[in-house]
Amino acid sequence: MNSANDSAAFWEKHYAGMDAQWGTKPNAVLTALLADLAPAPGTALDLGCGHGGDALWLAAQGWDVTPVDVSQTALDRVAAGAAATGLTDRIHPQQHDLSQTFPDGAWDLVTATYFHTPVTIARESVLRRAAQAVAPGGRLIVIEHASTAPWSWQAGQDIHYPTPEDVIASLQLDNTWAVERGDAPQRTATGPEGQTATVTDNVIAVRRTG
Ligand SMILES: C[S@@+](CC[C@H](N)C(=O)[O-])C[C@H]1O[C@@H](n2cnc3c(N)ncnc32)[C@H](O)[C@@H]1O
Repeated sequence: MNSANDSAAFWEKHYAGMDAQWGTKPNAVLTALLADLAPAPGTALDLGCGHGGDALWLAAQGWDVTPVDVSQTALDRVAAGAAATGLTDRIHPQQHDLSQTFPDGAWDLVTATYFHTPVTIARESVLRRAAQAVAPGGRLIVIEHASTAPWSWQAGQDIHYPTPEDVIASLQLDNTWAVERGDAPQRTATGPEGQTATVTDNVIAVRRTG
């Protein structure tokens, strides 16, 4: 799969067949990282938000959030989650195929949490564009798979995962940026049948200082 329409088709089908409650909790790595970095709530852009676990949690913490996804079904569920929790004023969903279009503006926090897809896209370019969307003083946080869970669509494939250093280098940041996190911690993940496995994530946090 490699055309613009493939992303929408793949992810619409994915979410249409999925329990609307899946993915409505925030990513524990992200919440721990933000507890550590302790930014004051401002504006946030969540790239590939899915069912909005991160976006809804950020909004509940006081952030004004723009969740973005290629799947309108996923975005409708984020909006429904916001309505159910009184967060509609702080959630502004936008539908984009990020390999084609990107939201206009600048944000204090830009997140990309497991922004992975089996569709061939210029993912590094999207993340470089994400860095450009960070306002001065703001942060880009990328949390991504650095190993394959046994239940993943990629299980059994010989996947080359970039190191955190590779990911930071691919962002092509200038000297107005500071690296706050760039490591690959392990965690215990739970699969769709409740099975568990130890997996590795790349955790990248970079701050635009100027
Ligand atoms: C693996 S899911 C992760 C969802 C969510 N961030 C999470 O951590 O649960 C990847 C998400 O990226 C979205 N996505 C994939 N390709 C995209 C694209 N080209 N443009 C925008 N969103 C895309 C998918 O629809 C999906 O919601």
